[in-house]
Amino acid sequence: MQENVSAHSQGVSEAEAGRLADWKPKVVAFCCTYCAYTAADLAGAMRLEYPPHVRIVQVLCTGKIETAWLLRAFEEGADAVYVAGCALGDCHFLEGNLQALRTVAYAKQLLAEVGLEPDRLEFFHIPASAGGLFAQRAREMTERARRLGPNPLRKALGKAETRKILLPPDPKPPLPPAQFGRRIQTE
Ligand code: FES
Repeated sequence: MQENVSAHSQGVSEAEAGRLADWKPKVVAFCCTYCAYTAADLAGAMRLEYPPHVRIVQVLCTGKIETAWLLRAFEEGADAVYVAGCALGDCHFLEGNLQALRTVAYAKQLLAEVGLEPDRLEFFHIPASAGGLFAQRAREMTERARRLGPNPLRKALGKAETRKILLPPDPKPPLPPAQFGRRIQTE
């Protein structure tokens, strides 16, 4: 029912609404190895249920995450992405989670500029002992993606086009090949 309401609000056909009902959002979770990744392990050990299509990317610390990684996840077809780091004051690299908060805030701005809902991206603090919280966040982001619908950039454009919009131009483009044997004109 929820899906049909969402489909109608987006002005899609009945057939499209039927497809949306079976649609499973793709959610990518970038998890710090010391906390959120451990919490994901714990959630598994505790046999807590969370959506199986949440894909976890393990990172040493969320401070290592770059804006381009988040945008690339959307470019590759993610419908929602979240970064999960240690609680404030608990980052093993002191301020990695604070850096990640800034990275996520900046990426949200970029998403808005290209017409993608910033709500598709989020940052969460998930302590290592919080298996239940990990499962809850995974469900929450899946529900959010379901409410927002499929990633519209992926739907509207081909992958190559999406890449052009989301990723900034290479700051160091490769040099043109050297041309040997050309005469240099001198006076
Ligand atoms: Fe977990 Fe930095 S070590 S966020």
